[in-house]
Amino acid sequence: MERTLVIVKPDAVERGLIGAILSRLEAKQLRLTASELRTIDVATAERHYAEHEGKPFYANLVAFITRGPSLVCVVEGPKETWKVVRNLMGATDPKEAAPGTIRGDMAINMAENLIHGSDSPESAQREIEIFFPDLA
Ligand code: RTP
Ligand code: MG
Repeated sequence: MERTLVIVKPDAVERGLIGAILSRLEAKQLRLTASELRTIDVATAERHYAEHEGKPFYANLVAFITRGPSLVCVVEGPKETWKVVRNLMGATDPKEAAPGTIRGDMAINMAENLIHGSDSPESAQREIEIFFPDLA
């Protein structure tokens, strides 16, 4: 089994899309290992998105992800579960995301793209350690 980190972002929580998003992951036969509704603090957001520090969108990204509650989840499935989640999410820019994906079907704005998923096994391990240190 393999684990990856998923964040149902504040825009999705505000829009009442937690169930719609988790149902797609569950329909794919992925399962929740852990899940917590929490407002991510700035220090944790900066640690999570450290790879983007210095980029033009970084300040907005940190402000967005900390603006209200997110559902932070560890999701479990077979080998390459991180990639399965990324495929279900769709492209970063919802305007480019394929229909049938979460972002392709339910988002339109780059900054408010509903869901985060780890982008490699190494990222998954690093991010699970940040949000669920007891599981890492
Ligand atoms: P995430 O980390 O949130 O799952 O998204 P991602 O892997 O698909 O995209 P990433 O490159 O990691 O970027 C993180 C978030 O920053 C915003 N972004 N804006 N050029 C831009 O304006 C730009 N690039 C990225 C997006 O909201 C993206 O989800
Ligand atoms: Mg990313």
